[in-house]
Amino acid sequence: MKAKVCAFANQKGGVGKTTTVNNLGVAIAKAGYKVLCVDLDAQANLTDGLGVDPYGVGQSVFDLLKGQPVERMILDVGDVHLLPASQLLATADLEFSGRIAREQLLRKGLRSVLSSYDYIMLDCPPNLGLLTVNAFVAATHVYFVSEAEYYALSGLGLIWTTFEACKELNATVELAGVIVTQYDKRKVLHRDVVRSIGEQGQFVNKVFETKIRCNVDLASAPSHGMSIFEYDPKANGALDYAQLAREFLR
Ligand SMILES: Nc1ncnc2c1ncn2[C@@H]1O[C@H](COP(=O)(O)OP(=O)(O)OP(=O)(O)O)[C@@H](O)[C@H]1O
Ligand SMILES: [Mg+2]
Repeated sequence: MKAKVCAFANQKGGVGKTTTVNNLGVAIAKAGYKVLCVDLDAQANLTDGLGVDPYGVGQSVFDLLKGQPVERMILDVGDVHLLPASQLLATADLEFSGRIAREQLLRKGLRSVLSSYDYIMLDCPPNLGLLTVNAFVAATHVYFVSEAEYYALSGLGLIWTTFEACKELNATVELAGVIVTQYDKRKVLHRDVVRSIGEQGQFVNKVFETKIRCNVDLASAPSHGMSIFEYDPKANGALDYAQLAREFLR
């Protein structure tokens, strides 16, 4: 067994990256796979949403990047395992700026647990800095997470350029999909934007058929430290992420 390492990214904030890693990760784990979720964002929303106090964690992914062994910092949080974030990640760009092979710190750090998981899910921060680049270099599969709003198209162009540049250090990484969140099929704009994304050369046949609808329960669940499946298994958000998991695993 060798883990599929999946990075979920977009430099735009608030598009649903963390919500997707949390709920898709739990859905896949419930389907019987071993899942490690990695919080690469100094905001530590994923850590918090999985029920772990980011101020209370001992070692975090920051220590992993500094060369500490990964086994020490992995937490069992129920359905999935978590590699938590800390606020120190906000200093990563400066901290590691002079480091040789600084783009490969995460790949190296995760190497020893690749055989312990089926899926390693990387929750990227909302920028294209060193941590997102580390995610693209560590990943086997990259997923862009996007809203169906007007600015999504130019934003996806920018992240694509960074993704392409990372292939120099990770030749086999592939763009495995574009996940659309906070989608309302009644809105002409949303339908148009999704169609436009799917017509761009690099995204043809990449947009997931399953769209994640706007659902307030998805926003409430993390404040209870629960995935949507515990919080309200009948919510649209639970139905959508369960459907997304089926498509993801196909
Ligand atoms: N489908 C949805 N319906 C309603 N609210 C959602 C949905 N997806 C995410 N949200 C809410 O929108 C906000 C942003 O989502 P999330 O934190 O997942 O985005 P993000 O891309 O990880 O943000 P950041 O870039 O800041 O890390 C959160 O409050 C979240 O609960
Ligand atoms: Mg996030």
